[in-house]
Amino acid sequence: MIHFSQESALSKRAKADVCLIPFYEGKKGAECACKLTTQLQAGIKSALSSGDFTGEASQTLVLYLSGQPEKRAVLVGLGKEKELTVEVLRRAYSTSAKLCHKLKIKAANALLPTSESLSTEEISRGLSEGLLLSNYAFDKLKTSKTSSQQLLQKVALIGDGKEALKSAKEALHICQGVYFARDLVNGNADDVTPEHIGDMAKEIAKKHSTVKTQVFSKSKIEKEKMGLLLAVSRGSHIDPSFVICEYKGDPKSNDTTVVVGKGVTYDTGGLNLKPTGSMETMKADMGGAATALGTLHAVASLKLPCNLTIVIPTTENSISAKSYKPGDVYKSYQGQTVEIGNTDAEGRLILADALSWASKNLKPTRIIDFATLTGAIVIALGNEAIGLMSNDEKLASDLQKAGNDSYERACQLPVYEEYRQQLNSDVADIKNIGGRAGGSITAAVFLKEFVGKGIPWAHFDIAASAYLDKAIRYNPQHGTGIGVRLMLSYLKNHVCK
Ligand code: BES
Ligand code: ZN
Ligand code: ZN
Repeated sequence: MIHFSQESALSKRAKADVCLIPFYEGKKGAECACKLTTQLQAGIKSALSSGDFTGEASQTLVLYLSGQPEKRAVLVGLGKEKELTVEVLRRAYSTSAKLCHKLKIKAANALLPTSESLSTEEISRGLSEGLLLSNYAFDKLKTSKTSSQQLLQKVALIGDGKEALKSAKEALHICQGVYFARDLVNGNADDVTPEHIGDMAKEIAKKHSTVKTQVFSKSKIEKEKMGLLLAVSRGSHIDPSFVICEYKGDPKSNDTTVVVGKGVTYDTGGLNLKPTGSMETMKADMGGAATALGTLHAVASLKLPCNLTIVIPTTENSISAKSYKPGDVYKSYQGQTVEIGNTDAEGRLILADALSWASKNLKPTRIIDFATLTGAIVIALGNEAIGLMSNDEKLASDLQKAGNDSYERACQLPVYEEYRQQLNSDVADIKNIGGRAGGSITAAVFLKEFVGKGIPWAHFDIAASAYLDKAIRYNPQHGTGIGVRLMLSYLKNHVCK
């Protein structure tokens, strides 16, 4: 966690371990992207004239100062001034944060860049998100806590602009939602159980009077006749849960966004058991649930003026004598019968019951689901874009804009009705697999059947990016919390008035 403060006068800045000084590429001498005192200019002059630092985006250079509130400075390259974007800032300050960790820096003075194209709000958002998203470590399962001990603790924003601190604090709330999601994904599957997911939802409700949580136990799920969630859960010795968490930030309005998250706390594949090499990361199969909870966490702490309900069907997909069986037919909450073509296509089953339960009981204005749903999306898009499928063009286009704004970019795939025949079953109303062709799309086509008539719905397949083998820029190795920032941007810019 970073504590942010602001000081408008450069000469009044407090002591810190480092001064982060932004530079644009191609500027001569000590002409940097912010105001500098003459002493500071003198301090960095020789480093600049050496030519070791050009100001190229995300380039950094450490140099040592004397007679300054900081014993060192880090020059931060922002690339060409005309090409500055929020994302350039995120990347540059993410690199700077990682350098600070190496140098065991706890407190930084960050001189705010000035820009002709970006507003103070955008500059501060990019800078703060870059620092915050990289300032994360998960060492709960390690004996030595060295990585979390190296994190930055204090950042003073130095420069004018009232918006800067406000926007940094907003970024902090959003990134705390991201951390919340990452922690859940990174936790042991034996700890992050369906019961634990319910407990986390209750924790959020305890902190915010605007949030109400309900957790359906197995017996309630039976009473509700969620036959698909029950089928998937049969192989496990632990019970499934169905979590509903309601945030009312605009009680007078009927507009309600429902976010559904896939909460498979461990996916063995069931009787269609996954092979070695495909199972090891499957504690992350509740990534959608983590995104939903992280979003709620951030929305509630920012007190956004909109209504959000999250719905999480959660279970293990385990294997035992009681496991649900390939070839058998189970009845969904909505009434359709489903032939199980493959027990490893379990995510769409539990989501189907959740989507129809939400459609029937929550009067949703729109439903958005997040799910680590298909290996096919990894093949189709890699991890630079998440899959977006929808029955509503306006919703899809707003979500895509939010994806660009947060740089959690989404690529839309079609859900043409012609794909539906791939799911035809000889014995039931529908089958849960549609063959290899268009695997991510047929999964979405399956889901679509369970969304209430006339409800705008969008589905995000985050199988490729909820959990990473290797860090990418400010996304750390393992749980990323992807989707939280996208949803915050969507709700703020397209839903809240
Ligand atoms: N949880 C997996 C999808 C997944 C794969 C997530 C890789 C993260 C990384 C899902 O439940 C699954 O197993 N899907 C099957 C569907 C198939 C049987 C139709 C898949 O994608 O192979
Ligand atoms: Zn599976
Ligand atoms: Zn799964």
